[in-house]
Amino acid sequence: MESIVQVKNLRKEYRNTDVLKGINLTVNKGEVFGFVGHNGAGKSTLIHILTGIVNKTSGSFTIFDMPDNELNTVKRKMGVMPDITNLYHNMKGYNFLKYMGELTEDKRSKAGYTELLKKVGLEGAEDQKIKSYSFGMKKKISIAQALLGDPELIILDEPTSGLDPESAIYIRNLISELQKSGKTIFLTSHNLDEIERISDRVGILSNGVIKKFGTPEELKKVEEGSNIGFSVRTIPMLTTEKIEELTNLHQLNIIFGEGRQTSARLIVKSEEDIPKITKAIVDSGISLYEVKIDEKSLEDVFMNA
Ligand SMILES: Nc1ncnc2c1ncn2[C@@H]1O[C@H](COP(=O)(O)OP(=O)(O)O)[C@@H](O)[C@H]1O
Ligand SMILES: [Mg+2]
Repeated sequence: MESIVQVKNLRKEYRNTDVLKGINLTVNKGEVFGFVGHNGAGKSTLIHILTGIVNKTSGSFTIFDMPDNELNTVKRKMGVMPDITNLYHNMKGYNFLKYMGELTEDKRSKAGYTELLKKVGLEGAEDQKIKSYSFGMKKKISIAQALLGDPELIILDEPTSGLDPESAIYIRNLISELQKSGKTIFLTSHNLDEIERISDRVGILSNGVIKKFGTPEELKKVEEGSNIGFSVRTIPMLTTEKIEELTNLHQLNIIFGEGRQTSARLIVKSEEDIPKITKAIVDSGISLYEVKIDEKSLEDVFMNA
């Protein structure tokens, strides 16, 4: 598989802080790669290094097979949406885009710019000043700016954070469309659930290193074998004492069990324990109305560990 970005043992220190402590990753042609980590983890720092804004401390990387000291030769093939954008707030949307387009030697016509604005969901906002744009609209025009020059590699720093759900869906769809048209996309987010919806592979940055790397499915598999939490709604209510009683009677493997107002919450080691427990509940004459397994949150597993 052809790789577009290859990062090897990349380190970045700011004065006294080690932000990146040896990053290794590859982004393959045509994939959506999601780079996720808490705020302050170092995601933007990596993007700044990859785009030549910030110098690395050590390590190396290649983009389109070009070593990092020859980045200028491949910059034309990269489009970047920075997290903090310096938009020309007094300019109208259309004029801003055309101005940026001229800087990147984008050769499109007037209709081409209008088309691009439409593509990112800014139809009708061409003649509005950017300072009057909503937060979501500013994100959208930043994405449009990243698409100028028709780059093969599109780097988007937090394209969906802080957006209302509708705009987030719009941008997710736009990212899928870009991928379908053959682009390679590197994006960041501080939200793992969000990023695993659109990424083919995910890298989780934590404490300066990539803690986990893989497809969303692979990441979920790693999680198997760890604790599974679920809640049960019963009548009468399952008290903590009752849980203990059932645990002893049936030798159940309950790691944690607590009765609450209308439901009880339990944690077990393996999925097979769930039917054993529900059977024990029913056998004891308690009516079982609902078993609700916690939605597996990758966030809990990797990012808070
Ligand atoms: N120019 C800088 N000088 C010193 N520290 C910086 C600088 N830029 C970022 N940092 C620090 O590096 C860390 C990572 O920041 P950043 O890459 O912006 O994280 P993220 O994008 O994941 O939220 C933070 O602790 C931040 O304060
Ligand atoms: Mg950032």
